[in-house]
Amino acid sequence: MTTFIPVTPLLSTPAATRAIRLRADIEALALDLAAGERRSRTPAGVPSEVEDALALRFRQLFRDLEAASAELSAADLDELTALISARFYPWVAASGLADRAVHKPAGYAGDFRTILMVYADVPCGACWAGRFIDARVLESPAAWAVKNRRGLLAAEIEATMGAAEAEGRRAQIASLGAGPAEELFDVWQRLGDADARGRMPLATLCDMDEGALGHVRARSEAEGCADALQAMPVNLARAALGRSDDRLADQDLIYSAGLIDYFKDNLLVRLLDWIYDGLRPGGRTVLGNFHPDNPTRRMMETSLEWVLIHRDEDDMRRIFARSRFGADSLRFFFDPSGVNLFVEATRLA
Ligand SMILES: C[S@@+](CC[C@H](N)C(=O)[O-])C[C@H]1O[C@@H](n2cnc3c(N)ncnc32)[C@H](O)[C@@H]1O
Repeated sequence: MTTFIPVTPLLSTPAATRAIRLRADIEALALDLAAGERRSRTPAGVPSEVEDALALRFRQLFRDLEAASAELSAADLDELTALISARFYPWVAASGLADRAVHKPAGYAGDFRTILMVYADVPCGACWAGRFIDARVLESPAAWAVKNRRGLLAAEIEATMGAAEAEGRRAQIASLGAGPAEELFDVWQRLGDADARGRMPLATLCDMDEGALGHVRARSEAEGCADALQAMPVNLARAALGRSDDRLADQDLIYSAGLIDYFKDNLLVRLLDWIYDGLRPGGRTVLGNFHPDNPTRRMMETSLEWVLIHRDEDDMRRIFARSRFGADSLRFFFDPSGVNLFVEATRLA
């Protein structure tokens, strides 16, 4: 076992005391998880009350880390992060979703298969402790934010569909960083019968991952909505910077969730201008971004190595003000977890 030498001086400030306590909690939980794993290999297995108690301690540990992180020194935070990744690594590596998040087989966190695992909401893993870690990730507010956003986006699509129909048109929409596009299949399934399905918006699915687009193509053919869904392979960072000719036009709605949290401010401003050009006058954009109040930010960063740019309403106002949308008529709303902030802006002219 790696030995971690505390960098906190023992003549302690309250913050240093918290770091010492957190370190002890991490070590104790790691030992008890290992004991749980051994017990899971016995005929009696892990009693549910033992598993529940461990789950409580896991949640409390990350709540405490979150609460302490504003006060802890950078050195203490780095050391605690390293300790968490070292002590929990064997169980993360034996999990399903958490393992994928850490090892990033597609080269980045949040590829469409990872997102599908969140939507599936089933803890996976090669052993009891691996599934325990997945269960903790899946119950976290951050995972709920992903599960919830699908319904919010489907509602935005349906509202857009209704507004275009009121003008005698079929809606045109685009999803940026579309991934598995579950929200579009939800809309398709809710439309139900063949007549209603003629109302399905014409959707352009923008993604740089051919695997994601291939998945959506195969599913749309199987479900009979391939005519309504068009794949657009595009690196949106390059497109936003004018390094490719990829563009959208005349869209009623351009939305994204799980994309702009990876784009730095300057790039996001350029993406907003690219979106603006792709909308028809009166068209809207709806963009999701994780909010700094995400209570599981440290869990994502330490045990999953999943780092996002968190933004609040003021950050969004500042960024939109630099774009062609301006910041005068932004609307903000949250998913029920309070983690996913959505901002809506309209192209006026
Ligand atoms: C976290 S997933 C979100 C998927 C989907 N929007 C959802 O909420 O379920 C992010 C998606 O954005 C895509 N993506 C990331 N960076 C991109 C870029 N620069 N250009 C195009 N697509 C990108 C990824 O391939 C992935 O499918």
